[in-house]
Amino acid sequence: MNKDLARLAELDRGRCLVAHIGALLGWDQEAFLPSAGIEERSEQLALIQTLEHEKATSPEIGELLARLGSTTETPLGAAALGPMERAYLRVARREYDKATKLPAELVAELARAISLSQAAWAEARRRSDFSAFAPHLEKMVGLSRRVASCLGPDRRPYDVLLDLYEPGSTEESVAAVFSSLRSDLSSLLDKIRGRPQVDDSALHRNCPAARQAELSAWLMDVLAYDRSRGRLDTTAHPFTTTLGRDDVRITTRYIENYFPSSIFSTIHETGHALYELGIDPGPAFVRTRLSEAASMAVHESQSRLWENLVGRSLGFWKLKYDRLVRLTGGCLDGVGLDAFFRGVNKVEPSLIRTEADEVTYALHVILRFELESRLIAGTLAVKDVPEAWNAKMKELLGLVPPDDARGCLQDIHWSMGSFGYFPSYALGNLYASQFWTAMKASIPAIDREVEAGNHAAALAWLREHVHRPGAAYLPGELVERATGAPLDARHFVAYLNGKYAAVYGF
Ligand code: CO
Repeated sequence: MNKDLARLAELDRGRCLVAHIGALLGWDQEAFLPSAGIEERSEQLALIQTLEHEKATSPEIGELLARLGSTTETPLGAAALGPMERAYLRVARREYDKATKLPAELVAELARAISLSQAAWAEARRRSDFSAFAPHLEKMVGLSRRVASCLGPDRRPYDVLLDLYEPGSTEESVAAVFSSLRSDLSSLLDKIRGRPQVDDSALHRNCPAARQAELSAWLMDVLAYDRSRGRLDTTAHPFTTTLGRDDVRITTRYIENYFPSSIFSTIHETGHALYELGIDPGPAFVRTRLSEAASMAVHESQSRLWENLVGRSLGFWKLKYDRLVRLTGGCLDGVGLDAFFRGVNKVEPSLIRTEADEVTYALHVILRFELESRLIAGTLAVKDVPEAWNAKMKELLGLVPPDDARGCLQDIHWSMGSFGYFPSYALGNLYASQFWTAMKASIPAIDREVEAGNHAAALAWLREHVHRPGAAYLPGELVERATGAPLDARHFVAYLNGKYAAVYGF
């Protein structure tokens, strides 16, 4: 390997080591930290973040990138380099620019504003008082515009922000995908509303946490999550975190009167972990930026694929159902496999995004995408957000929030200035279906394999087409390489129509 590239990778590994130490502190904070320990922990985390930032912005990285021919305009660098080396340069340049292009005073102002804004948001949500949060939202919109103009002065601000989460995407490309999706989901929802509602009351029987923990352990094994390279703990909000190349951990939570919550959280996070553990763009790139996920949405596609396309399918449970019934200890007495399948796939328009089902979820995201792109463009005023939100909810889901706490104040993202983040949640579902369709074309027996409890073929396909390259391809490139076509919402719509015709009988 080129000497400059090797040095670049070495510096990158030094940064990664610090980032993984930070992740360990963060994981411990969520899972185990005694409450009084929080004060020093915040200082520890701040120190680690400063160290990481120093390592990410080392002027030597800039010099190496320049010597290798990688500039902001030509990130891939010298044409004589190999394809993976060039892919690495592109990622390294992107991250270096992100870390160095924001003036220190803007970074400091952002940090201060975010912490005030988050506190104000939490209080405003508690009291359901949008007017108390409005000045902070105003501030976050302004700061986000400034961030966008530093990172991409010639581009539309919202495009620059989107690019932070989903590299290569634009408002136009996302809007094109969402516009057909929106009408397809609305008509599916109409069909579902015309049918009798599914009765899922049996799923709310009490199931002790200890039993749910056994269930989670079993499912991790079923999905071949190598527990010598990870572990499961419990936290208020389930998540996955990477502490090392061979240390990817997940968390779940046990709700005693709704055990499916932990089943699907555990499968979801296992999907994230399988992705992280499968990244392997080559020995030269271990613990570099190339060994990270392609994007937020690609990450989410891996969790949703296992959670929804596999875990919420009838086939997945066919041979496992007796064991599930035994492990839940009486919760499923008198409930057949078919009723369980319909119960865990119940569709019901609701006010809260994080509780939404597969059909209505994307509509919640489309609402946020439409509003936040207008906020950043300046065509929606902050003071008009509640009214715009409620009108969109009525239009898309037929519901009007009784208060702003259950409306425009429900999510934390805007209070942190994370504009452009929401679309990745929905894009993840779309990628998942498109990957699954392509997998099925190359492994026609995949459904029977899943039914037989053999998930190795699906995992191997994902390893090869999605996991292994890490960040070597932009999400759009990855999808085209894996499936032979650009992102197309029709795969997702076809999957939903097939599944919900079975669930609701139309
Ligand atoms: Co996720």
